[in-house]
Amino acid sequence: MTNEINTAQLIREAIEAMQYSYTPYSNFRVGAALLTKEGKIYRGCNVENAAYTPTNCAERTAFFKAVSEGAREFEAICIVGGKNGILEEYTPPCGVCRQVMMEFCNPVTFKIILATNEDHYTELTLKELLPLGFGPGNLE
Ligand code: THU
Repeated sequence: MTNEINTAQLIREAIEAMQYSYTPYSNFRVGAALLTKEGKIYRGCNVENAAYTPTNCAERTAFFKAVSEGAREFEAICIVGGKNGILEEYTPPCGVCRQVMMEFCNPVTFKIILATNEDHYTELTLKELLPLGFGPGNLE
């Protein structure tokens, strides 16, 4: 991966990110680590809300932090999550987060890494998770 950032490092960053998740309603804690093509990592966690719908997923937190600081080119995102922060199963991105990825990422090359620990992970492309996705190209 870019600039020596490897999968294990990205997984560690996502696990670190999860520590700040704010989840008083679901107790389902999620962390994400988004890698730019320049090799910078933006972390994100889910942030819930008493009114429920304003809740922001970990992946979108990472993307919005990155884009709001000028990053536009992304290589991969790692996502970890579980009830009470216990990482037993993969946490795939929700449909809304997939659509946000579609806005900024090449679906063929952008990698989505789902992990439970450094040794247990799987890697998918955005195209695999969002086939026939609608993106900026459709408006050209
Ligand atoms: N969640 C994420 O942060 N990312 C996902 O892609 C799946 C769902 C969060 C939202 C909410 O805080 C909790 O997990 C339960 O849905």
